Amino acid sequence: MTLAETLRGVLVDSFAKNGIEGADLDRVAVVAASDIRHGDYQSNAAMMLAKVAKKNPRALAEEVVADLEAALAGKVVCSLAGPGFINFKLEPAFFAEHLKGVFQDERLGVPELADKKRIVIDFSAPNVAKPMHVGHIRSTVIGEALARLSAFLGHEVIRDNHIGDWGTQFGMVLWAWKKELNETALEEEPLRELLRLYRLGSSSSKSDEEIANACRAELVKLQGGDEENTAIWKRCIELSKKGLNDIYDRLEVSFDHWLGESFYNDQLAPLVDEMVSSGMARESEGAICVFSAGELPPKKDPFLKTTKEGVEDYPFIIRKSDGGFNYATSDIATIDFRLKEWQAEVIWYVVDFRQEEHFARLFEVAKRRGCEAELVHVKFGTILGADGTPLKTRAGDLPELQDVINDAVEAARKSVAEKSFLEDDQEKEELAQLIGLSAIKFMELSHRRESDYTYDLEKMVALEGDTAPYLQYSYVRCRSIFRKLEEEVALGGDELILEDEREIHLARMIARFGEVVPQVLEDLRPNVLASYLLELARAYHSFFQSCPVLKSEGATKASRLTLCEVTARVLKLGLSLLGIGVPEKM
Ligand code: ARG
Repeated sequence: MTLAETLRGVLVDSFAKNGIEGADLDRVAVVAASDIRHGDYQSNAAMMLAKVAKKNPRALAEEVVADLEAALAGKVVCSLAGPGFINFKLEPAFFAEHLKGVFQDERLGVPELADKKRIVIDFSAPNVAKPMHVGHIRSTVIGEALARLSAFLGHEVIRDNHIGDWGTQFGMVLWAWKKELNETALEEEPLRELLRLYRLGSSSSKSDEEIANACRAELVKLQGGDEENTAIWKRCIELSKKGLNDIYDRLEVSFDHWLGESFYNDQLAPLVDEMVSSGMARESEGAICVFSAGELPPKKDPFLKTTKEGVEDYPFIIRKSDGGFNYATSDIATIDFRLKEWQAEVIWYVVDFRQEEHFARLFEVAKRRGCEAELVHVKFGTILGADGTPLKTRAGDLPELQDVINDAVEAARKSVAEKSFLEDDQEKEELAQLIGLSAIKFMELSHRRESDYTYDLEKMVALEGDTAPYLQYSYVRCRSIFRKLEEEVALGGDELILEDEREIHLARMIARFGEVVPQVLEDLRPNVLASYLLELARAYHSFFQSCPVLKSEGATKASRLTLCEVTARVLKLGLSLLGIGVPEKM
């Protein structure tokens, strides 16, 4: 149990004694204090429940506090503030006792959730034969972190890479493939060669109408099941997967399934027929569309667009006027599949905010078709370059993910060469790889996901600052103490001594780990955990600077070493939940 839960339990009992019951008691919450000068934890429950109790909030707070202090005698001192806030100041002994529990717990104080769900996480999902660009890093890294966190908290997680393997880009790739394929390049660097072909097809068809038609004809042949084109398409997919897997391996990202758009092909025609015959969709200008049901106010209705001229229909097209199906159609079929085959209770789509309207309409369609699962668009913003516009290469393209990774590793190599104590070249290289990749991930996870952020290579691989290497360095520092230790010291023993303010603060921060991890899933915000880890590391450094560890003695030494040990474990576990590893030396 976390400290917040322990306090809440006692607080609930005291409210119960004061006549509060049932669902009202569920409203009692205890949270970490926003300002530790007032206490370690706080609650506004007396204010929320005063009406129910028919008491003045402050009077109610006084009564429950008296009960609470009696129940936790010697552990907590309470105070009241404002109209009825309750502040809890914990005695060091209470922290010490809790810390011993954390020390013995493999989960380091993180409780498993009682309400476990089956969650499908739809993330990464690049479009095959187009580059996996820097924008896909966000989906990949956020999705992986959410998957790890959810699984750790006890949810059943299904990771699905819904790749775009059936789009119009294949017309261009097929055309260029037949003209210009370089087999050797394809074997060596499949993603680059496919991208080259795609770009060739795409730019040629822009400047030449005849080529544009030829590309379209190739696509029609593919969709009609033409043998040659199908074989080429299959090879493109195989090779792309291989190239993507190389990147995922480096990032330590994995999937349970790769059910891309093409997987749903056979289901699209019957799906559209069914939606037409049930009256959910209808023909409009040759296309089949879903329209507003007229139940929502126009501004909230995703099937309407409000412009200066007035309100317009904004239909969800599920079959184009040329008879082709689209992204929307396969997304509806995908939901059907996930509900039926996987019994999904929750589906998270980790996708760029630009697709907001697509998902708003998709979710509405799913609801109309009886879907009861919780569907969430986990959206994220744009990565910006130094000039404040979306990050681009010198040629003006979106940077490719593999280049971004290589650049980060290169920057990390430089920083390792300058700062590291390692002597062995191979160890240095491994460290540079780890730091480079972690830096990218942490940069991503430490920002609020909806915000844009500026990509700054030097800053993100720096040892100082809010970076992955800073946390990794903090971990290494905790661990290195044990290598310098000359005698055996039993850790986690009876007497944890917390006297110095900085020792107490470190214990306070460690205790919060179990509260922070579940919070990430409340709003799907890995940055909450990232900020926590930075704060923990800072608490550790200030502890380490003012409280000698190796030079202390006896019980104090054992106690301080225990703090180092638990800090190291929390940093390692916390980072691993974000998908980031730690080195043992740096
Ligand atoms: N392939 C799409 C893109 O790159 C993302 C797919 C997201 N998942 C989904 N079920 N629509 O934009």
